[in-house]
Amino acid sequence: MDGGQILFSYIKVWVILLLLSATFDQNSKLAAKNTEQDKKRKLAAENSGFISIDCGAEEDYLDGKTGINYKTDKDFISAGKNKVVAPERYLTTLYYGNMVNSLRTFPEGKRNCYTLKPREGKNQNYYVRAFFYYGNYDSKNQTQIKFDLYIGVNYWATVADMDWFYDDIIHYSVTDTIYVCLVNTGSGVPFINGLDLRFMNNSPYRTMNGSLIRRVQADLGGHQPPGAIRYKDDVYDRIWRLDVNLNDSVSNISTEANIDIQGSDNPCRLPVEVLRTAVQPRNGLNSLSYIYTLGYTENATPEFLVFFHFAEIEQIAPGKLREFTITLNGLKYGPFTLEYLKPLTIGPYTLQDQVRFSIESTSRSDLPPILNAFEIFELGALPDHSPTNQTDVDAIMAIKKAYNINRDDWQGDPCLPLTYTWSGLQCNYDNSPRIISLNLSSSQLSGKIDVSLLSLTSMKSLDLSNNELTGTVPKAFAQLPDLTILYLSGNKLTGAIPYSLKEKSNSGQLQLSLDGNPDLCKMDTCEKKKGSFPVPVIASVIPVFVLLLLSTITIFWRLKRGRLNVSLSSSAGLSLSLKSKNQPFTYTEIVSITNNFQTIIGEGGFGKVYLGNLIDGRQVAVKLLSQSSRQGYKEFLAEVELLIIVHHRNLVSLVGYCNEQENMALVYEYMANGNLKDQLLENSTNMLNWRARLQIAVDAAQGLEYLHNGCRPPIVHRDLKSSNILLTENLQAKIADFGLSKAFTNEEDSHVITIPAGTPGYIDPEFRASGNLNKKSDVYSFGILLCELITGQPPLIRGHQGHTHILQWVSPLFERGDIQSIIDPRLQGEFNTNCAWKALEIALSCMPPTSRQRPDMSDILGELKECLTMEMSSEMSMHDSVEMNLLLSTDIAPNLR
Ligand SMILES: *[C@@H]1O[C@H](CO)[C@@H](O)[C@H](O)[C@H]1NC(C)=O
Ligand SMILES: *[C@@H]1O[C@H](CO)[C@@H](O)[C@H](O)[C@H]1NC(C)=O
Ligand SMILES: *[C@@H]1O[C@H](CO)[C@@H](O)[C@H](O)[C@H]1NC(C)=O
Ligand SMILES: *[C@@H]1O[C@H](CO)[C@@H](O)[C@H](O)[C@H]1NC(C)=O
Ligand SMILES: *[C@@H]1O[C@H](CO)[C@@H](O)[C@H](O)[C@H]1NC(C)=O
Ligand SMILES: *[C@@H]1O[C@H](CO)[C@@H](O)[C@H](O)[C@H]1NC(C)=O
Repeated sequence: MDGGQILFSYIKVWVILLLLSATFDQNSKLAAKNTEQDKKRKLAAENSGFISIDCGAEEDYLDGKTGINYKTDKDFISAGKNKVVAPERYLTTLYYGNMVNSLRTFPEGKRNCYTLKPREGKNQNYYVRAFFYYGNYDSKNQTQIKFDLYIGVNYWATVADMDWFYDDIIHYSVTDTIYVCLVNTGSGVPFINGLDLRFMNNSPYRTMNGSLIRRVQADLGGHQPPGAIRYKDDVYDRIWRLDVNLNDSVSNISTEANIDIQGSDNPCRLPVEVLRTAVQPRNGLNSLSYIYTLGYTENATPEFLVFFHFAEIEQIAPGKLREFTITLNGLKYGPFTLEYLKPLTIGPYTLQDQVRFSIESTSRSDLPPILNAFEIFELGALPDHSPTNQTDVDAIMAIKKAYNINRDDWQGDPCLPLTYTWSGLQCNYDNSPRIISLNLSSSQLSGKIDVSLLSLTSMKSLDLSNNELTGTVPKAFAQLPDLTILYLSGNKLTGAIPYSLKEKSNSGQLQLSLDGNPDLCKMDTCEKKKGSFPVPVIASVIPVFVLLLLSTITIFWRLKRGRLNVSLSSSAGLSLSLKSKNQPFTYTEIVSITNNFQTIIGEGGFGKVYLGNLIDGRQVAVKLLSQSSRQGYKEFLAEVELLIIVHHRNLVSLVGYCNEQENMALVYEYMANGNLKDQLLENSTNMLNWRARLQIAVDAAQGLEYLHNGCRPPIVHRDLKSSNILLTENLQAKIADFGLSKAFTNEEDSHVITIPAGTPGYIDPEFRASGNLNKKSDVYSFGILLCELITGQPPLIRGHQGHTHILQWVSPLFERGDIQSIIDPRLQGEFNTNCAWKALEIALSCMPPTSRQRPDMSDILGELKECLTMEMSSEMSMHDSVEMNLLLSTDIAPNLR
């Protein structure tokens, strides 16, 4: 066979394998169709606290062997190339699932980093494990590849073993983001096959500083094959193995009996299977001993942490005793005794240089000692520095994103380790490093000057010359206290140079260079008077303006139709202040706008909602009052009246209405993304991310705040709920249904009609009890709405025993601090934990049983905005706020001086 044939036969095998797996996939897809959603949700819940990455994989999958949901690495790193292990080197026998046979390699760049953002955030312990298997992926039969592994800003290990290999570490993270970096040390191309992170809650492995690098893990007493125990037997997904050589002086013992591992005497949470086996000295001997020294080390005097794990697995005859001592580097501890089938962890002991132990039975002991497992960790070198100041990290990440900067070395911590500081950056290394200089000259940057640059508050020198930057020069540069160099020459900046910058430059505090910006105005006289309206005036001018516009439109309509005095007063004798207003749409027009009611886009208690097209091409939603529901007439008029008077960007706006005796319709702006309730449904196609949810909360709060505090008399919505929050194409939220759907829910509830009943799940308990309606009832409903956004759950959660109210579900979890169970698992940890906490606190503050205890919407709005800012700065996508901030800092402010 020549090479071509071999290749061909490989391809054949591959094709067959692919076909097989495809068929299997099809079948299982069909079988699991209905339970797929359930399974996903369950899985997300079970795997919570896990980040599991199959480096180099083409798609996410559920690993059948481990029950772990593996993700591709595309969301965690952008550099590198996907590769697969040579087919003849495929690993199938080990218990590591599919993850081992694909890898990502890093031919470019000195340091390449995976970015992990566990939802539990900073100041927590994480068990992190990285897998390496060369598997001749490049057909070069290499044996000498060697590279370094870093976690955070600390050295972790040198990877040099090209056969199957993994490193694990318990890492205490002082940052929300954990970087795992591969560093090319000039001995071949670094690669990685898999990366796992597991949250370790309250474990004795807690280090508070530095890391625990695992050196020895010994699951004694024999499992076949060794290392077969991991998730789900092990809640932390440790892979149990036997790192020590046992000689003939020990024997294995085991039990099938159950060991109680749930209690507090198993703080390291060892799996049953690990504790069910143990070793003891062979006949006649009375001690077990072991010596560990480190072959090579970065540390002159390494420090170790040792844990011993015991459980009595033999039934001891009455009157007999097993008692032992532990001698560690010459010091004796104990004596210890064990209880039948009860775990006992002894340690951790901290030792210098080496670990030398022997476990010996005491003189009065009838039985030899046993040992079920032990672990030795090396205390990772403490970092010389803390990581770079988080504010600076967030800012530089946002800058990287805003300008789409793709430099090989812009990965991991920006300032540390010293040798890997990002290019173009200089830092000071006082305590927590700060960025003091940024040079992005000639880097093909385009767009505006990003507002995140202004968050680098220790910056002394900024060079953005020779790019394609447009827009104005932010005035706020003058507020950076240490800035002494600002080079912006050779761009396409426009507008005026802020006065304060000129002043600083004139006084010699700042070297300012602005040459080569042809459209930049350097004269004092060109500072235009725009933006000189104080903000409050603008706010009060707008309604007037809208009124003017409205009457213009009204007049226009009248002229167009030649019908001037159609009264809105109804047969029911309701006389409205709208009497003089006209009736914009005839029923015939409604029919034509909706193309004879062709497309239904929604349905409420009052009737159906149709899609419509105005002559000018605008899309609208047409709500038709069904003829059978005369009850809705009052509410129909109420809504028309309200929406004609009240305008706000977060309230749905009325385009027109039709009120022709039997035929009544409301015409609204079309909201392309439907209502929030549908968006939050489990099977919704576009999952709202956390940032979008927060923005929706802020929008809704703004709308409601306006109704409560911006209108005289205040307006109480009375039926705030997720299905009444509508979303535009850009996910801007607007409140809908003012006093309309409420009446119909009321009708359904059939009892006293004069007391409107709202929607179950959202009703303020105080209002329900007393019938007393005020603004705070809306606040309660808003709290429920916020909970929906946070949890993704409806207000009434369906369970085995009927419905649970969302508040009853959230409160106990909140009290336990169990935020990960509360937050919508579909967000997969993609949020700032502090912000999520805050949002939850805000939600709960809306829902005390008595209305007096609830805050006003203006307070809630303020808090939510803060939360959104927090999220934006941590999420590093400040792109959207750039324009607004620049406008405030450059245009309005100087003229107010
Ligand atoms: C790699 O090793 C295999 C046998 O182990 C040999 O057949 C092959 O020629 C080697 N390839 C290279 C590039 O050295
Ligand atoms: C590390 O943490 C321990 C307590 O867990 C503390 O005693 C020690 O001072 C810390 N070391 C440093 C350098 O922070
Ligand atoms: C005890 O179990 C280990 C596997 O963990 C095995 O290698 C060893 O041979 C066993 N020893 C005896 C005496 O059976
Ligand atoms: C087994 O190992 C122990 C401790 O390492 C040692 O004392 C003993 O002599 C060894 N026994 C044999 C038979 O090699
Ligand atoms: C980071 O810098 C900001 C000022 O920009 C400061 O408020 C904050 O305390 C610093 N954080 C740390 C951890 O030093
Ligand atoms: C920025 O870098 C360029 C080229 O690398 C250099 O010419 C320029 O002097 C640097 N700017 C500053 C402020 O150091």
